[in-house]
Amino acid sequence: MKILVTGGAGFIGSAVVRQFIAETEHTVINVDALTYAGNLESLSDVRDHPRHIFEHVDITNHDSLTSVFQKHQPGAVMHLAAESHVDRSIDGSAEFINTNIVGTYLLLECSREYWNRLPANDRQSVAKGEKSGGVTKESFRFHHISTDEVYGDLTVNDPPFTEETPYAPSSPYSASKASSDHLVRAWYRTYGLPIIVTNCSNNYGPYQFPEKLIPLMILNALDCKPLPVYGRGENIRDWLYVEDHARALRYVLAHGVVGRTYNIGGLNEKTNLEVVNSICDLLDELRPLSGLPEISQAPDKLSKSYKSLITFVTDRLGHDHRYAIDNSRIANELGWQPLESFETGLRKTVQWYLDNTTWVERVRLGTYRDWIATEYTKGG
Ligand code: NAD
Ligand code: DAU
Repeated sequence: MKILVTGGAGFIGSAVVRQFIAETEHTVINVDALTYAGNLESLSDVRDHPRHIFEHVDITNHDSLTSVFQKHQPGAVMHLAAESHVDRSIDGSAEFINTNIVGTYLLLECSREYWNRLPANDRQSVAKGEKSGGVTKESFRFHHISTDEVYGDLTVNDPPFTEETPYAPSSPYSASKASSDHLVRAWYRTYGLPIIVTNCSNNYGPYQFPEKLIPLMILNALDCKPLPVYGRGENIRDWLYVEDHARALRYVLAHGVVGRTYNIGGLNEKTNLEVVNSICDLLDELRPLSGLPEISQAPDKLSKSYKSLITFVTDRLGHDHRYAIDNSRIANELGWQPLESFETGLRKTVQWYLDNTTWVERVRLGTYRDWIATEYTKGG
């Protein structure tokens, strides 16, 4: 089957694409606008694979999207493209409204126009609809990838979010994602488009853009820069290793019930301070400060642990206190469980950032975006 993945050059999207290529026979049509968060170097293992087709398309461009559907005739859409960083949404929300809401609306409309022309499941229509490559109205799926932030936040004593928790988003980012979720469900109820929605907790792992908590802390520590913890570091997130999320998304696409929502979480609730302390402990073990050239020359500059870099800073506006996911539905109905504990996943992540200095440096210098300039100035 051909699967149209939006946002496949981003952090989670690239994990999904790599898994599809490595572990299935599916062809991936990777639709991505390559914003600052899109990085084809995260796909270097699969970029030239015959089952990976990259389309440099902005989901807010209806005509380009329509052409992608006509050209590739996908059997499913997995929609990950979004503006994803809460702090950026507080600083300026326009792109969040545009991509997350308008972009989702246009993708839904293009999907619906395409889906309306697909044959029904009966044998005659399938025979007539040879051009659809076996894709039918019943088999098509629109899988919308969303966040647990749509549910708002919890106090320490509240039970975790379930699929029935009412929506109460706090930030411009989460409000834009909540809005997109509502649109997707409306396209199911009103038009019958076969949709599935997943709402996931905080992801971490390789290839995450270093604006998010975990990679930011790892890279700042390695540069002996302050580790900026918002407020008192008491906010709680439920961490999930990105490969576990990608696998969950594949389970849901393959086995999820149309119209249904599945929450996905790692059962790893940690305060931010616990997370940062764990990163420091791992770095103290894997890259001790005493071994860094600048420190061995100026040993008084820092104490023995990276923890001495922790700096409490002004809190995020509207900062959600706690997120936690009740995983029972996806566990009981689809048999999915996270494979990685926070300890094993964090160790792999820290080691990945230590080992992949070229990826990190090119992101920091902005040179990972050179490809766009080279590719798109040809003949123009
Ligand atoms: P990301 O910011 O790393 O990647 C987003 C990708 O979307 C990038 O490749 C970017 O180029 C692309 N994109 C942005 N605007 C686009 C547009 N207008 N047209 C086409 N492509 C566009 O995001 P991520 O962390 O990988 O998150 C992916 C999805 O998962 C998002 O929808 C996000 O809301 C959701 N999500 C993320 C997390 C998390 O912890 N990161 C958790 C739950 C859900
Ligand atoms: O819950 C899922 C969401 O998780 C996704 O939908 C979002 O796309 C993703 O960005 C993430 O949102 P968060 O705001 O929780 O992630 P972030 O990494 O930005 O922050 C995690 C926590 O760490 C949060 O409580 C804020 C805090 N923080 C973050 C940064 C960047 C700090 O204390 N210092 C920092 O420098």
